[in-house]
Amino acid sequence: MQPGPRLVGKVAIVSGGASGIGAETARLFALHSAAVMLCDSNAAAGERVAGEIVAAGGKAMFRPLDVCDEDAWTALVAAAEKSYGKVDVLANIAGISGRDPMMNIQTGQTAGPRLAEQSLANWNQVMAVNATGVFLGTRAVIQPMQRAGGGSVVNISSICGIVGSHSNAAYHASKGAVRIFSKAAAIQYAPDRIRVNSVHPGFVDTPMTKPGHANPEVAAKRLEATPLGRFGTPADIALGCLYLASDESAWVTGTELVIDGGMTAN
Ligand SMILES: NC(=O)c1ccc[n+]([C@@H]2O[C@H](COP(=O)([O-])OP(=O)(O)OC[C@H]3O[C@@H](n4cnc5c(N)ncnc54)[C@H](O)[C@@H]3O)[C@@H](O)[C@H]2O)c1
Repeated sequence: MQPGPRLVGKVAIVSGGASGIGAETARLFALHSAAVMLCDSNAAAGERVAGEIVAAGGKAMFRPLDVCDEDAWTALVAAAEKSYGKVDVLANIAGISGRDPMMNIQTGQTAGPRLAEQSLANWNQVMAVNATGVFLGTRAVIQPMQRAGGGSVVNISSICGIVGSHSNAAYHASKGAVRIFSKAAAIQYAPDRIRVNSVHPGFVDTPMTKPGHANPEVAAKRLEATPLGRFGTPADIALGCLYLASDESAWVTGTELVIDGGMTAN
């Protein structure tokens, strides 16, 4: 691994680091010389990603975390500060689609229950992981970032945080919450040079979208809606996170970085 120059001296926490966009972001941050603390509820996969980064010459460690657990966030951030001396970057990437876990193959246009069939339990779970998890993570790094003289929080929303669709309304609501939460946090902590931005991926090939993209009918509709004519890769999104994490975006806060192959331009 050739160390890149874009995150030299930075310490980054990446939630959702065990899979998909989070794993690729952790790899890219480490490739650009950040010390990375990956966290995820999937410990086996998270350990594997951290091990791969270290084996390739990067600096990384894994710690299990449920992003809905307030105390676990406090402990995780303290561990990052203890291990690496400070916290400069938090990428809140962990998330769930709200799809029925029994639904291995997506058969219709919607990846979750329609509103009339939506249970309160499903709504609460999606909001807890996707929205409350982002709040808890962001809150936990404020004081460490103040101590470090500033920082960058990168919150993964979605195109579903900008436009509606047939998909799970709870997913849309949770991603819309991330979008506007990020702007409020950006304004509150701009005086401390803590930047907070949201990233809005379109349809990206990851384990989360596999059931849908494996269905030719669903995949064709999604590709048709994507002007650039292909699904995104985790690297397409990780590169946006890298920009927002780095000092190259020093004058960027409260903004929305849409990376969607042109979908929402339509
Ligand atoms: N893939 C897409 O097309 C797409 C599009 C827009 C937004 N997103 C968002 O990108 C993010 C990453 O998704 P992905 O596509 O890489 O999916 P993924 O399923 O590959 O990764 C999500 C990760 O989050 C972890 N996670 C789930 N619940 C958790 C919890 N309570 N605590 C800690 N970790 C938890 C999972 O274990 C998994 O490792 C999500 O927030 C998702 O909503 C994805």
